[in-house]
Amino acid sequence: MYRIGKEEIEALARVIESRDLFKINSGACEVLNFEAELCEKLGVKHSILMTSGKAALISGLVGMGVGPGDEVIVPAYTYIATAIAVTAVGAIPVIADIDESLTLDPADFERKITKYTKAVIPVHIQGFPCDMDKINEIAKKHGVYVLEDACQSVGGSYKGKRLGTVGDAGAFSFNYYKVITSGEGGALMTDCREIFERALIYHDSSAIAYFGNQLESFTTEQFCGNEFRVSEFTGAIMRAQLKKLDSILYDLRRNKAYLLDKLSGKYNFIHSNDILGDCGTTLAFWFDTEAEAVEFKRKADTAGYPGTRPIDTGKHVYTNWTPIMNKKGAFHPAFDPFKMEANKDLNHNYTPDMCEKSLEYLKRAVYIMIDPDMDERGLDRIVDALK
Ligand SMILES: Cc1ncc(COP(=O)(O)O)c(C=O)c1O
Repeated sequence: MYRIGKEEIEALARVIESRDLFKINSGACEVLNFEAELCEKLGVKHSILMTSGKAALISGLVGMGVGPGDEVIVPAYTYIATAIAVTAVGAIPVIADIDESLTLDPADFERKITKYTKAVIPVHIQGFPCDMDKINEIAKKHGVYVLEDACQSVGGSYKGKRLGTVGDAGAFSFNYYKVITSGEGGALMTDCREIFERALIYHDSSAIAYFGNQLESFTTEQFCGNEFRVSEFTGAIMRAQLKKLDSILYDLRRNKAYLLDKLSGKYNFIHSNDILGDCGTTLAFWFDTEAEAVEFKRKADTAGYPGTRPIDTGKHVYTNWTPIMNKKGAFHPAFDPFKMEANKDLNHNYTPDMCEKSLEYLKRAVYIMIDPDMDERGLDRIVDALK
């Protein structure tokens, strides 16, 4: 969480005073207004605010018609929720390598495509944009949907287009650790009417036909789904947070650029697919060997600027996705995609060494987190300590 205060308190008070706590109301309609404001900011036609980033990923996959019999390609380095979202719709996550940008390697994405591949989830991890031109081109060639996981990259962009709007659909997380936050929350964005209708029905399948006239202009028939609806409190806080997004990003990027400039003679940094669109949350040093990375981290820790090696980030590394690696895909065998007849020929032969290249890259990088509120004196102290 970066910036939260009086504006969010006022937003919550506004909701309490209105007594309109439910999403569909005849008053301020905080959730619906947030969705409209998000669409305007991102330049996208549809958005749905919901309970979490994972809910948004699941709803996006449902929107694309992904289900049993389908493979969905995910990178070896992403939070476990990306892969679990695939199992939640009965499909199989196929794990592909990352490249020197620490995001999905387009070449390995293409290698992993089979006749079963229905979608790919490129993940803009730590605010680093994926190589979207190549990913979109390969996906188009093979008729594969692109669902961007921009959960860690809200507000970032790729070649001038906001992350989450470059593929067929995109997912944001607004949990506590994200660029803007309501403690928990997420959003799905898409220009595609069909994905939007299916996702909206899925994300709120019981109330959707009961409250308001939400299905009025729909061509999609209602089907059973989930309950990912949020209250007006989430909508109101997110409206206040959205107003702060660009200034948070501006300060993060300014501070990251300052450190990059001052340290670039001395260190290498990971390859960026678009440094201007990068969110600026993370400075990622890049070393020739694991030993050098370990030594740098030790020095940074001692200097009081703790470094993190991505290989040590637990559930962000595929080898630590315990229920996926153990193929425990559901709470009941009949719902378990790894046991479904429709999935028996699909690629779920997971082994700890299947993406060794990714593990090697994750061992050779070290992160320092950027503080948007740090002034030049603070940044100079980091520079002095790391030099
Ligand atoms: C890359 C990525 N995808 C998906 C998620 C899931 O988001 P949420 O925790 O809001 O469900 C996260 C959350 O940390 C994430 O980092």
